[in-house]
Amino acid sequence: MIIAPSILAGDFGNFAGEARRVELAGGDWLHCDVMDGHFVPNLTFGPDVIAALRQATRVPLDVHLMIERPERFVERFIEAGADHITVHVEAEAKHDVAWTLQLIRSRGKKAGLSLNPPTPVEKVFPFLDQVDLLLVMTVNPGFGGQAFIPECLDKIREIRRRAPKLAINVDGGINPTTARQCVAAGATILVAGNSLFRHKTLGLPEAIKELRTHVEN
Ligand code: DX5
Ligand code: ZN
Repeated sequence: MIIAPSILAGDFGNFAGEARRVELAGGDWLHCDVMDGHFVPNLTFGPDVIAALRQATRVPLDVHLMIERPERFVERFIEAGADHITVHVEAEAKHDVAWTLQLIRSRGKKAGLSLNPPTPVEKVFPFLDQVDLLLVMTVNPGFGGQAFIPECLDKIREIRRRAPKLAINVDGGINPTTARQCVAAGATILVAGNSLFRHKTLGLPEAIKELRTHVEN
């Protein structure tokens, strides 16, 4: 099981420190949410912040682009040090999905595809053999700290049925309870922000360990 803490829930005044903290705490990947204020109603950061994170940690940088025209920025994120780039399948992302995925893979990086809760699962079927990661959004994208949408579990099952070996990420409202449901449905990668960085009682290493123990036993 891969656990990818989401820096969206970290301290925005100390990204480098947060990246080091994730590595020391046993996080497998660092999930980085890029938002453009158009595809989603929020803004975060761009390639220069990814470059700073790259200097701070060796863990793979899992970059989730919630932006329009993602193909325009793929090159810049790769130069900055992104290891995985996930783009969205919705028409609102305004790109040729197959072409963008091919661009990412042609540069030797892992290509991910994501779908939002209202998007029918069928939309990703044509691309299943063109992706390395399939990210199922389990909240509406834009903000951390929202409640998990249980209807998304059927999507995970359906994708798993069609692609037995594909890496499936879940993102949004993931905590030990919802993570267990997602793993039972077929998820292999857990993205989590608030439940790790802002745990009520546990520090980051303990929260990661608790999540891991809960899904692996
Ligand atoms: C939401 C982002 C998520 C976010 C999840 O748009 O894609 O990666 O960080 O945050 P939590 O785990 O707090 O729901
Ligand atoms: Zn994300």
